[in-house]
Amino acid sequence: VKPLGIFDSGVGGLTVAKAIHNVLPHTDILYVGDTEHMPYGDKSPETIRGYAKKITSYLVGQNIEALVIACNTASAHAYPFLRASFPDLPIINMVDPVINYIKKNYSGKAISIIATRGTIQSGVYPARIRDCCPETRVFTLATPLLAPLVEENLGNSIVIRGILEHYLDKPPIHESNLLVLACTHYPLLINEIENYLGQSVHVIDPGLLVAEAVSELFPGNPNAQPGELTCLVTDYTESFEQIARRIFSPDLRLSNIKLPE
Ligand code: DGL
Repeated sequence: VKPLGIFDSGVGGLTVAKAIHNVLPHTDILYVGDTEHMPYGDKSPETIRGYAKKITSYLVGQNIEALVIACNTASAHAYPFLRASFPDLPIINMVDPVINYIKKNYSGKAISIIATRGTIQSGVYPARIRDCCPETRVFTLATPLLAPLVEENLGNSIVIRGILEHYLDKPPIHESNLLVLACTHYPLLINEIENYLGQSVHVIDPGLLVAEAVSELFPGNPNAQPGELTCLVTDYTESFEQIARRIFSPDLRLSNIKLPE
């Protein structure tokens, strides 16, 4: 059985891999964290498309069943490009399952989206929500300090409260019905964000929606052996390994790969 290919700039996509593993425990996963080029959030769309194409070529060479773009920035800038470049490969992005969820549950309500600068500047979420649910109010905000905070493993530290206050202490956010964590690093801060906002704002981890979408498309074989996660990085660092273990499992091992030029 072929593995599922998943990529992100760093550890964030492991939150998606984990959600997929929870619903599809028998599916093998091949994960690439492009740590050499992290962060993606401040790079240009062309640059992101170049990285995404290289990683996808590599994963296609590993004979994957399908690709999950476990990065909102790459989903925003590179999804149509990857579809055109790899027409035979099924590709799942981070945005579509969120749009379907909003259509079903939050049409006509107030929604806030937090993400990297790249995702926010792409305008993909407001455009897609306007198309499906024109009555819905959308507030978007770039929160570029949050992903590095996760990469530095500072989610539980005293700095988090001040940073959340700096970003989230805004009426449109407090008055939202839904806050979408539209960067795959952010679910690692979901408890802190929920505590900060209180119960009136529902905070959603899109990785769970993506995992559901993947399991509908590729239900796998429930009689197979337990699935394995192979975790590859383009630039090995100890801190990545530590966070990856915390997210996925304590015996996770990383391997370094060099993507062909
Ligand atoms: N995890 C990536 C995302 O979902 C962004 C982190 C980065 O800037 O590299 O957008």
